[in-house]
Amino acid sequence: MQQPAKDRLRIVAVWLCRLIVGFTFIISGWAKAIDPWGFLIKTGEYLQVWGLNLPRELVLTGCVSLACVEFCTGVLIATGSLKRLAVWVAAAMMSVMLPLTLYIAVESPVSDCGCFGDFLIISNTATFIKNVVLSALIVYLIIAGRKVKGIYAAPIQWLQIVVTVAFPMILAFVGYNIQPLVDFRPYKLGTNLFGDAGESSTEVYIYRKGGVEKEFTLDELPDDSWEFVDMKSVGDETNGGFEVRDDSGLEMNDELSDMDGQVLYLIVSDPDVQFLSRVHLTNMLYRRAESQDVTMIGIAGATGSTLERWISIAKPLFPVYSAAPTALKQLVRGDAALVYTDGGEIKWKRTLSSMNADFGDGEWASDSLENIRPVDDGRYHLILLSIYLASMIVIYLLSLSPKILRLFVGIPKKIRNFAHSKNEHNTITLYHTMRKNIVAGNWKMNTTVPEGVALAKEVNEALKGFKANCDVIICVPFTHLCPVAAEIDANVLGLGAENCADHTSGAYTGEISAPMVASTGAKYVILGHSERRQYYGETSETLREKVALALANGLTPIFCIGEVLAEREDGTYNEVVKRQVEEGLFNLSAEDFGKIILAYEPVWAIGTGKTATAEQAQDMHAHIRAVIAEKYGKEVADNCSILYGGSCKPSNAAELFAKPDVDGGLIGGAALKCADFMGIVKAF
Ligand code: PGA
Repeated sequence: MQQPAKDRLRIVAVWLCRLIVGFTFIISGWAKAIDPWGFLIKTGEYLQVWGLNLPRELVLTGCVSLACVEFCTGVLIATGSLKRLAVWVAAAMMSVMLPLTLYIAVESPVSDCGCFGDFLIISNTATFIKNVVLSALIVYLIIAGRKVKGIYAAPIQWLQIVVTVAFPMILAFVGYNIQPLVDFRPYKLGTNLFGDAGESSTEVYIYRKGGVEKEFTLDELPDDSWEFVDMKSVGDETNGGFEVRDDSGLEMNDELSDMDGQVLYLIVSDPDVQFLSRVHLTNMLYRRAESQDVTMIGIAGATGSTLERWISIAKPLFPVYSAAPTALKQLVRGDAALVYTDGGEIKWKRTLSSMNADFGDGEWASDSLENIRPVDDGRYHLILLSIYLASMIVIYLLSLSPKILRLFVGIPKKIRNFAHSKNEHNTITLYHTMRKNIVAGNWKMNTTVPEGVALAKEVNEALKGFKANCDVIICVPFTHLCPVAAEIDANVLGLGAENCADHTSGAYTGEISAPMVASTGAKYVILGHSERRQYYGETSETLREKVALALANGLTPIFCIGEVLAEREDGTYNEVVKRQVEEGLFNLSAEDFGKIILAYEPVWAIGTGKTATAEQAQDMHAHIRAVIAEKYGKEVADNCSILYGGSCKPSNAAELFAKPDVDGGLIGGAALKCADFMGIVKAF
């Protein structure tokens, strides 16, 4: 069936919103995960403004978790996975961030909100506006996103989540313990720690010719054919006002920047914090540096008595100067960290704590200091990002194969059932769910007797060589019942009719009664199929009779319900289906109701190729179960198998059957080919 233009527009709009919201969350989570120290410092600023003094471990755990949740939510939204949960998590975050960023925009308690770390700094007002837009898009996704299918099949989405959480966690782990894998701050590797004296910036002239812009220095300006566009100053990326002073207050910058050769700086930005356990390492480092002709200098983010205290404990054999802690925290992440320079150029940085391991094994002793550069700016990140993206692609490709997808089907369901069965033994109300998973074929008015017998035999054979995780039934035309019953093994394949009369016997020319069906050996009968309701005028009233006669003759009714397209579109589908269940079945005792199999078959999906999404099916099945529970109680409702029918095929069965309330399928077209039918059976 061709999708109406309205639907197509909604799909495009939903995907657009998903990408915008998703990628904003992804970038924001990623920027925080990559630099946990930066996020920690920013959060510290907030907490300080609000006068809160929380333990560092708690704040750090909160920061890393938030970054991971933000990143993961972004990926799930951008790929349309866990549609409902992901947008609700985003909405929950926005309900905190929106008022918070409004407050920040109005009061400006901190200079920038820190949403994207140092990767992208936007003004507080812009942040608030961004959040208003995001919130609007999230509301739209809550309303319209549910019906638009995502990229990843449901059974494999949990694997997607595991991989997606691992990525920011690794970033954060390296970023916190060593240094950020990508450095967005002014002191990147390769820049000069103290700048080149006297040559702080150069003018660059931009000219355009034939649509191409190019930069020129004053000495080599282009000819007249080039048109002048702009001029800008390009500074050597050096520190902005990073002043180092000795204990008498004398500025040391010139002296330090004039220093030749290699220098190992020990940067103690916060001498008060947890550093004391590692002070003994500093002099070991000093000796090693000395033996390799490397000068070692300490710079602490403290003055006066705090610095003196640190010096009295660390007893450094090298000179220690002081600088503003904020500048030091920008230079290198970590309470205590090392910066190695050669001719003033930053070669590597790493936290002091990351050196511990190297000290232990002795190997490091022979290594030159220059070679212990731990994080290659950007390169490792690129590798990690490529591995992550490749895993996401592999997971997607795996999900394309119904065979592989089947391996993943029901894993969460199995875990839930396992937990449930554990609970059962521990709870006082010993309760056990007995509902079966069932795949039933509805052959409708297809195949001649010989063709039908051959098909039934083929299915029967296929099932013999395979242990199905569900009951398998075929419902065939009346003429086929006897010969098929003679050919199949009732222990592996159930047999049913597609209808029966609303009378037991008598002058009803052309009708077949429930006792007749039962006498062929059949055990099931489809009742109330939408085609019978639509073309043969079956009403709830006649269906009540048929159900009663089927039960009285030992047949299990497979009772069909489902709304037509107009009812789906005008939103009355829940009401319609509820009415069908109530009118057709609620005259039964709880015991008899317990014998019924229900089949939800949205009429617009039957034979149209248009399946209800797994979520739509799940919503309706849960609704039907709730309707039953209201009448007969939770136990009867939980024990009732509810099948889905309507263009169910091997490629979508796994996703549908993975839903907790979808207990199998009633299969039309795909039941006429043994391979397709078995493909669906194997989805369990
Ligand atoms: P379909 O039919 O699988 O061909 O859509 C289902 C049914 O009518 O039972």
